Amino acid sequence: MKAVPLLVLVLWVNFERSSAAVRSRCQHSPLTWCSSVEAAVQCGVLEQCLEANFTRVHETAEPVKLELYYESLCPGCRGFITSMLYPSSVLLEDILDITLVPYGNAQETFDGEKFIFTCQHGKEECLGNMIEACLLNLSKSDAFLSIFCMEVSDDPINAAESCVKLFSPDLDWKAVMECVDGKSGNQIMHQNALKTKALKPPHTYVPWVTINGVHTEELQDKAMSALLPLVCDMYKGEKPAICGGSGRHFKSYCHK
Ligand SMILES: *[C@@H]1O[C@H](CO)[C@@H](O)[C@H](O)[C@H]1NC(C)=O
Ligand SMILES: *[C@@H]1O[C@H](CO)[C@@H](O)[C@H](O)[C@H]1NC(C)=O
Repeated sequence: MKAVPLLVLVLWVNFERSSAAVRSRCQHSPLTWCSSVEAAVQCGVLEQCLEANFTRVHETAEPVKLELYYESLCPGCRGFITSMLYPSSVLLEDILDITLVPYGNAQETFDGEKFIFTCQHGKEECLGNMIEACLLNLSKSDAFLSIFCMEVSDDPINAAESCVKLFSPDLDWKAVMECVDGKSGNQIMHQNALKTKALKPPHTYVPWVTINGVHTEELQDKAMSALLPLVCDMYKGEKPAICGGSGRHFKSYCHK
């Protein structure tokens, strides 16, 4: 996603340098300059668009898909999210596509009207799961940062409101709680229950990880101990610098 503003900037600089005739012919906004060859020619940025399109071929290799099945108050889940998954997601950006499924070892029954959930770590955990499920459903921006903020706090439930205010400012806390207490939260959590129950093999603990839809003990072990090299290894496209191997090596020191 970060590549887009950069591309627009590069194109813009080039456009500013082009002749007035080209500029008046250009009927496109910078965001659509590369949308077709005609547009690129009209706006005098064909060479740059071709180059940008070429670079993007590498970037559009399928990201590695990771699904995390977890519950909000399980210590192992909290540890994995805060020390491994969230930091890796920041470092790996677009090559790692994360889906969070809060539910874990919870159970559900249907009372004829709505689903009743029972959670391994009690009512508080059900509330935490529900807040996180609603955040994932409602937040247009990244809900993960708010969830990280909750999970890294001593008390995830108490921290939720301030985490959301800080990291999902597009969301109204009242709307989150309406989801949590209402029909939509109940439906969303039921979907998480179905998704969790559909796991093959069925999960026997949480945090439970699937990579590109697959769970094996080996993948799970690697994800738990060294997620970054695992994702780097599995990513088919051009690897980002953080994966190493591009010859980058920090050798700059400040000597005394
Ligand atoms: C860039 O790629 C897009 C999508 O593949 C394509 O529609 C467009 O024509 C390309 N632009 C140029 C200038 O080649
Ligand atoms: C949010 O939940 C509603 C109700 O279950 C569902 O219809 C909708 O597709 C969900 N949206 C997202 C972005 O998950």
